[in-house]
Amino acid sequence: MKPSNLAGAHILATGSAVPDICISNETLSSIVNTSDEWISNRTGIKTRRILPANQSIIDIATRASCQALNKADLNPEELDLIILATSTPNDLFGSASQLQASIKATNAAAFDITAACSGFVISLITASQFLNSGSYKNILVVGADILSRWVDWSDRSSCILFGDGAGAAILQSNINNDILGFQINTNGLDANQLSIASKASEEIVCNPAKLKFMHSHYDYLRMNGKEVYKFAVSRVPESIRQCLKDVNLLSNDISWLILHQANQRILNAVADKLDIPKNKIISNIQSYGNTSAASIPIALHEAFDAGKIMNGDIIAIAGFGAGLTWATVIIKWH
Ligand code: ACO
Repeated sequence: MKPSNLAGAHILATGSAVPDICISNETLSSIVNTSDEWISNRTGIKTRRILPANQSIIDIATRASCQALNKADLNPEELDLIILATSTPNDLFGSASQLQASIKATNAAAFDITAACSGFVISLITASQFLNSGSYKNILVVGADILSRWVDWSDRSSCILFGDGAGAAILQSNINNDILGFQINTNGLDANQLSIASKASEEIVCNPAKLKFMHSHYDYLRMNGKEVYKFAVSRVPESIRQCLKDVNLLSNDISWLILHQANQRILNAVADKLDIPKNKIISNIQSYGNTSAASIPIALHEAFDAGKIMNGDIIAIAGFGAGLTWATVIIKWH
C-alpha cells in the first residue's frame, strides 16, 4: 500500500483495444434472419469486433492497459491496484490477477468487479474511494468483455447487438478531484430480464456413499430487450439528474454525455429526457456495438484521443445493464 495525502482522484490517461475481426450487419444476415436495415434502424449498429479463438480477454485487456500506461508515462510497477470490470472472465475465480501478471504490475493488488455494462463506472467509483481515502496512489481500471463467446448466435434478437473490446483508465491521487459525484443503483427483482445464468446440468452420483453432486455450466445470454430498453430510458436520466443535483449542476452544464453504448435509440432518448443536444452525445456504437463493460472506456478514450474533450469539460457518464444495475459518475476533466 502506497499512502498518499493527495485525496483527489484524477484521470491521468486512457487506452482502448478492439479485435481486428470485423463483422458487418450483412455478414450477420447470412447467419440469422435479419438485415442491415433492421439492425441499423433499431440499434444504430453497423459493425462489431469479434475476438479470434486463439486470443483471450487478457490479450485485449493487456493492450488497452499498456496503451494507458504509455500515455500516462507510468511504469507498471508503480501501479498499486488493478480493478478489472468484466462479466466474461477467463476464470470464475477472477481474471484481474492474470492481467496483473501479463502487464508485469508486480506491486499491484488486483481484483475483478462483475456488474455487466455498469462494471466500468462502478469500478471507477471504487477506485476513486481508494484514492479519496489516501490508501493508494496509482490505480488501473479496465473494462473488458467478450460477449461474442456467450451469445446464442442463432438468436437474432440478441446476437446482433454485441461485440468484444477493452478500455482502460489510469487514476492517480492529485490535488484536483475529477470525480465530482456518483450514484450506484441495483434492482435485483428484475435480474431475470438479462442474464447468463448458471445451470446445474449433470448429476454425479458418488458410490458407495450415494451422494449426489451437480456440475454447473452457463447458459447463453438471455435478454428481454423491450424491458431492458424501458428500464434504461427511465432509470438512467433519473440517475443523471439526481447526480447533477447532488453536485449543484444543471443539464446544460454537461459538455459531453457518455452512456453505455447499448443502442443509439437509448442514447438519443436519454439525451432528449435531459434536454441535452445530440451533438453532446459521444457515440461509437455504429462501429463496435455493445461491448458491455468496455463500451464506456473505449468511448471515453476515443473522444479524448480525437481532441473532443477539453480541460474543464463536465462529462456525465452512465452505465446500465444486467443486475439490473445502473450507475452514474459526473467528471470534471483536468
Ligand atoms: N432482425 C430482424 N427482426 C428482428 C430482429 C433482428 N435482428 N430481432 C427481433 N426482430 C423482430 C422481432 O421478432 C419482432 O417481430 P414481430 O413484431 O413480428 O414480433 C420485431 O422485430 C420487433 O422486435 P422488438 O424486440 O420489439 O424490437 P425492439 O425495437 O424492442 O428492438 C432491441 C430490440 C434492439 C433488442 C431493443 O429492445 C434494445 O436495444 N433493448 C435494450 C438492450 C440493452 O440496452 N441492453 C443493455 C444491457 S446489455 C448488458 O448488460 C450485457
